[in-house]
Amino acid sequence: MDTGVFYDKFYEKYGNRNSKPVLFFSPGRVNLIGEHTDYNGGYVFPCALNYGTYLLIRKTEASTLKFSTLNFTADEETEINGLFANKGKKWINYPLGVINEFLKKGIKPGGLEFLYYGDVPNGAGLSSSASIEMVTAVALNDLFSSGLSMIEMVRMSQKAENEFVGMNCGIMDQFAVGFGKKDHAIFLNCDNLAYENVPLFLGDCSLIITNTNKRRGLTDSKYNERRSECDKAVELLQAYKPLKNLSELNTGDLHLLDKYIPDTVVRRRAKHVITENNRVLEAVKVLKANNLVRFGELMNQSHDSLSVDYEVTGIELDTLVYEGRKLPGVLGTRMTGAGFGGCTISIVRTKDSSAFMKNLSEVYTRKTGLTADFYQPEIGNGAGRL
Ligand code: GLA
Repeated sequence: MDTGVFYDKFYEKYGNRNSKPVLFFSPGRVNLIGEHTDYNGGYVFPCALNYGTYLLIRKTEASTLKFSTLNFTADEETEINGLFANKGKKWINYPLGVINEFLKKGIKPGGLEFLYYGDVPNGAGLSSSASIEMVTAVALNDLFSSGLSMIEMVRMSQKAENEFVGMNCGIMDQFAVGFGKKDHAIFLNCDNLAYENVPLFLGDCSLIITNTNKRRGLTDSKYNERRSECDKAVELLQAYKPLKNLSELNTGDLHLLDKYIPDTVVRRRAKHVITENNRVLEAVKVLKANNLVRFGELMNQSHDSLSVDYEVTGIELDTLVYEGRKLPGVLGTRMTGAGFGGCTISIVRTKDSSAFMKNLSEVYTRKTGLTADFYQPEIGNGAGRL
């Protein structure tokens, strides 16, 4: 990111070089393991990327909010007259949803000019939305000295996404984007939000993210369907004991599923959540012991469970994962994020990385007709002022 060029673009758009905007950054995230567990009160293990969303923002004397982005041509302008309503299929719903949360807290921003630039691919399961929400939140908090804590902003951004944008996500993405720490993954208990930053020493291995580039289709509706299947499982298990969420059960309880959940689909969904929580616990333990080989095996098992029991993968993700596993130097590979498309995350011996990308790229295109993109990310810090 060339910040000089970014400032120039800001002045080209909004003029007045005498008043300098302020620069903020918020990362995207990749989840190493612990998928579809967050909204079940379970464990996740994501980390923040060095890719994300940059925001230049400046206060003005006017009463308008002006939004622009370098990613596409879609300038927007709106007056602040009480709470905002959803603007339909527009990207400014992400910042507006967050601004609404500030308004609800009695924090009324005056006129503002926003210029965004994102280098995390949109809709690829790397939390571009949480990144836009959180960069907006930290910027407003800073500019208006609102004194909000990071966890408050995480919750406000999740609320914006749930209630304003209309995507019923859990808390993992906003949390990872807010609390990321360079070269660390975040071991988060999504029930009580206790967390620990665990150093991610990869030694002679590298992280590789592969984008299926599958067009986003039914992700949101399928996501909500999975959520209700988990709710159904909890409801049925009440006959066994009072339960708040599936993560109160552990692998020793798996036999209960046969007994209390007659619907085999719902049963498999519950099984995924319970076994995935167990995998996260082990993954954190083996990572601390520098056992990346076992960590990779757990990633593989996580994908298998997401493919077979939770059914959130699809031909594109499965092709990347199952073909990827055949290649030399691959310790583990799995889908990351909501699934149905988006990206995989792999741990690959660095010496084999180039061959991995080349060979996987070929076989993926041959089998799906699509072209994959590869990223070799660094693990970065959470959202803040640059
Ligand atoms: C999306 C959601 C998260 C989480 C993952 C699946 O990224 O935004 O809250 O549920 O899917 O683990």
